[in-house]
Amino acid sequence: MDTKSLRSRYEELVVEINQHNYRYHTLDAPIISDAEYDKLLNELKRIEADHPDWIAPDSPTQRAGAKAADRFEKVRHPAPILSLANAFGADDARAWYERVRKLDERVASAKFVVEPKIDGLSVVLHYRDGVFVQGATRGDGEVGEDITANLRTVKTIPLHIPVSRKQEAESGLPAAYRLPPSYLVVRGEAFMPVKEFEKLNEQLAEAGEKTYLNPRNTAAGSLRQLDPALTASRPLTLLVYQIVYSEGGQIPTSQWELLEYLKALGFPVTDVAKRFDDIESAIAYTETWNTRRDELTYEADGMVIKIDDLNLAAELGFVGKDPRGATAFKFPAREVTTKLLDIRVTVGRTGVLIPNAVLEPVEINGVIVERATLHNFDYIAEKDIRVGDRVLVKRAGEVIPYVIGPVADARTGKERKYKLPQVCPVCEQPVEHFEGEVAWYCVNAACPAQLQRNIEHFVSRGSMDINGLGFKIVEKLIDTGAIRDVADIYTLTREAILEAVTKKDRKTEKEPPGKIADNLLSAIAESKKQSLSRVITALGIRGVGEVSARDLATHFGNLDALSKASADDLQQIEGIGPNIAEAIVDWFARPANQKILKKLKVIGLWPVEQEKREKREGKLSGLTFVVTGALPNFSRDDAKEFIESNGGKVTDSISKNTNYLVLGENPGSKFDKAKSLGVKIIDEDELKKLAKSF
Ligand code: IVH
Repeated sequence: MDTKSLRSRYEELVVEINQHNYRYHTLDAPIISDAEYDKLLNELKRIEADHPDWIAPDSPTQRAGAKAADRFEKVRHPAPILSLANAFGADDARAWYERVRKLDERVASAKFVVEPKIDGLSVVLHYRDGVFVQGATRGDGEVGEDITANLRTVKTIPLHIPVSRKQEAESGLPAAYRLPPSYLVVRGEAFMPVKEFEKLNEQLAEAGEKTYLNPRNTAAGSLRQLDPALTASRPLTLLVYQIVYSEGGQIPTSQWELLEYLKALGFPVTDVAKRFDDIESAIAYTETWNTRRDELTYEADGMVIKIDDLNLAAELGFVGKDPRGATAFKFPAREVTTKLLDIRVTVGRTGVLIPNAVLEPVEINGVIVERATLHNFDYIAEKDIRVGDRVLVKRAGEVIPYVIGPVADARTGKERKYKLPQVCPVCEQPVEHFEGEVAWYCVNAACPAQLQRNIEHFVSRGSMDINGLGFKIVEKLIDTGAIRDVADIYTLTREAILEAVTKKDRKTEKEPPGKIADNLLSAIAESKKQSLSRVITALGIRGVGEVSARDLATHFGNLDALSKASADDLQQIEGIGPNIAEAIVDWFARPANQKILKKLKVIGLWPVEQEKREKREGKLSGLTFVVTGALPNFSRDDAKEFIESNGGKVTDSISKNTNYLVLGENPGSKFDKAKSLGVKIIDEDELKKLAKSF
């Protein structure tokens, strides 16, 4: 190829690859395979290697640039990079509207554009003759920092606009807008999608590196790296929403058309923006996002309501740094900072020690928060959370408020590092740590804190359902030694209860102590009638909830059988995995628990699953079945019920102990396993015959 045609091939490649990048990163709609893409890129790289003087600033190879020295250069923005005044709620937004309407009557007939307010980092991008030449942070609004090399690595920032002339021609924009101005400066918000942020933080934690507080903080940190290669490895993107400045060309005069225009040039633009004819519909739309904000892939701290007519908006001027033509309608905050006053440790039911943050009270989304979880001790160490720190606290949806991490910049030097407790804060016995677990435990079975939790669980609704054994009474009963384990509930005397009732704070009590004691005694007596599955639930074995308890009850029929089961036996039951099986075996092996069982037997709390007993004898007795695939007449449960009512046993997985596999349509891997183990395979009809034939 002669030099001239090679040069034009080169220029063609730059445009073509940039278009593929755009389709892949911004539109999420590539039209060539990765291999084809690589081929084009390699061709481009070969030409650039032979002709380094040809390398264009908008060449896709220029995304990873040189390292900055020890700081970033300053950039003066061509026009002020403004901020936004906030509105908290619909009335605030209406007040903003009324204010601007009084200033200019034209506002009364204005249209409004509503856009998400992305919680990221404002960036300013300069294009000369369509080529991306400079990118800066917002800085103080007048002067920012030159982070061009870092921004180049953000794949959704077009290195050349329009990315595709064809696309622009088909955009439906008026012809006057089709050629971008010779100098165009746009503004957008750079951010890291929430999922990517979580992934990155996991990776950083695994590598033992410092994690980031939130996506915003991460985006800012990533863009201000002195080494663009590091920025390139961070999954950053942006959405563009404003033209800050332009020369030599025409640009739209309405926000709505501006967004269309920016999109046509190849910039990533939000797809949830909407235009409204009046303020009330704009507010109504804005408010729907209060509950929908989690649908966005990025964090938004509100919506922005903008007057669509950009000339009108500009004429309205600004107050300080806030333009009058727009307002930020803020979502209720989910994260706030406050002071970490102390770290207190509580003991959970299984003895697990839980560190809790005692906070200077702070309002988050309408609720005063004074306590927050710190998850576990590793978390405190990993995030380097110190007592006295200003901490970032999050409360969102149903989650319990938790401390995200310290605001390290706010440290005064008076903060103190947290030391792991050596002993249980309640019983003062040494704490223990198990291989492979992050948690620390109080392993003292007689620890009053653990006992308290055990009893709370034992008497709770889904367990023995004993009304009247509240926190305070239990605390007193433990204090006086009347209760040393859950079984002691059944040998409580009237006197012991009376003593506890009178000892506890009586101010709120309406009933006479004698009545309280009698009611409690009858509730306790009544609870002896509870089913086996409830008793199993009540024992509080780690991982055994109401559902597993029911399965265990039907499978074993009584506590004797259950207590003798091996981990293998237990795993035959659907829904019981190795961890729960282990926890069950472990629970029954503990002497303290053996003692509880003995006591329960003596007092007559020893339910048997009657049904199970009767069912156990039948034509299928002694046989173990596994069911797989869809049977013609039986549902899976029906089949199970049928086999069990005829005395057979149903398990979830095939082993050499399985006698029959009952096979339906579309069987899973169990079919293959049964064949390989030589297990007899039958269908529904054969099963029915089997139940009758013996
Ligand atoms: S408009 C004159 N639109 O929010 C234009 N800002 O709290 C003023 N932001 O500094 C900004 N998403 O960094 C605008 N769709 C959006 C935005 C947005 C995020 C940021 C921006 C601004 C801050 C104000």
